[in-house]
Amino acid sequence: MTDKNAELFERAQRVIPGGVNSPVRAFRAVGGTPRFIQRAQGPYIFDAEGKRYIDYIGSWGPMILGHGHPAVLEAVQKAALEGFSFGAPTEREIELAEEIISLVPSVEQVRLVSSGTEAAMSAIRLARGATGRPMLIKFEGCYHGHADALLVKGGSGMATFGHPTSAGVPPEVVQHTLVLEYNNLEQLEEAFALHGDQLACVMIEPIAGNMNFVRAQVPFVKRLRELCTEHGALLAFDEVMTGFRVALGGAQSLYGQLIPGFQPDISVFGKVIGGGMPLAAFGASRAVMSLLAPLGPVYQAGTLSGNPVATACGLATLREIRKPGFFEALSARTGELVQGLQGAAQKAGVPMVFDHQGGMFGFFFANELPQHYNAVLATDKERFNRFFHAMLDRGVYLAPALYEAGFVSAAHTADDIAATVAAAGEALAEG
Ligand SMILES: Cc1ncc(COP(=O)(O)O)c(C=O)c1O
Repeated sequence: MTDKNAELFERAQRVIPGGVNSPVRAFRAVGGTPRFIQRAQGPYIFDAEGKRYIDYIGSWGPMILGHGHPAVLEAVQKAALEGFSFGAPTEREIELAEEIISLVPSVEQVRLVSSGTEAAMSAIRLARGATGRPMLIKFEGCYHGHADALLVKGGSGMATFGHPTSAGVPPEVVQHTLVLEYNNLEQLEEAFALHGDQLACVMIEPIAGNMNFVRAQVPFVKRLRELCTEHGALLAFDEVMTGFRVALGGAQSLYGQLIPGFQPDISVFGKVIGGGMPLAAFGASRAVMSLLAPLGPVYQAGTLSGNPVATACGLATLREIRKPGFFEALSARTGELVQGLQGAAQKAGVPMVFDHQGGMFGFFFANELPQHYNAVLATDKERFNRFFHAMLDRGVYLAPALYEAGFVSAAHTADDIAATVAAAGEALAEG
């Protein structure tokens, strides 16, 4: 019997490098054959064999309402009939910008782009343009898209800059990027003491979803904010994953509740604001944003930026998630999942730790939650890989790599959660 997924993978590899258009989809980390998805509905995706999976990837974050939400479908269908792309401004772009600004008080103006990579890259150019400084700090394990200056791993000390993590990135291009350990206050202090007057910005995933799920500790964020202010560097929150996902106002609203007056200077969004369509954004105060072309000297542009079909999709999504009770229900459902999985792990006697916020969760085969990337690397990867496949066999689609967060949508029902927990019980008992 031939498996249609294997057949498609074979065919894909002939014409697409590795058979995929984004590396993690290839299942390299966990081994095995990627599932080719034919369609999706609600909390489910269906592969080329017609097999159904409970989807905890949600297109890596955007599908917060689940797949094929009626209000979103209607908005997209209507927009598509009106025209795919005009290369001229539309009212819908204003509406989406207004919606984002109304939910995120630190953002007074926003520019729409087509991918998170583009948004993060543009935010850094803007920070450099605003400060007239070259340097940026990022943290090991945080991913901000694949722009050259961000594909960096740490150097050997605070005075040495990073090394490219990808071929094709000349060392000179990353010579201004300093990579620090996440949640390491000492390194942060030292970096600012050495380079504070050269720093344009610090970019951080406030809850890192690209090393599974690791929160920036509150004292760390508080001190980071103080240091940026003291040294005139801009604090850039990359909320491509956390924005409109961990809370309606993003991770910054959560830190704002814990650190009086807290706000980042620049915010980067993606995923949920496009509802599954190619759409992302970056925003800041009016003073900073007015440095962008056509008003100011920082150039940034895009043929498909603010695409009318994508903005319709994003707008319909945001209007659903801002309805009263949405986040309470989503958070409760995610909590149910995590508590169920925790119970299954305890019953099986398997050391596992969990964290979750809003509609985002993570888990590790470890005794305590990692605080930085090296600690994530030290968790049990083999066990994760076995668990992933055992769950996939049972119709539960988790992220195919230990380094990724999971996502719950509003379409996941209590029955879906119960089925997932039951599958986990069996999978963990298998070893
Ligand atoms: C936090 C974060 N920033 C930026 C990006 C890049 O976004 P995109 O894949 O849309 O280019 C991602 C993608 O996963 C992300 O998680």
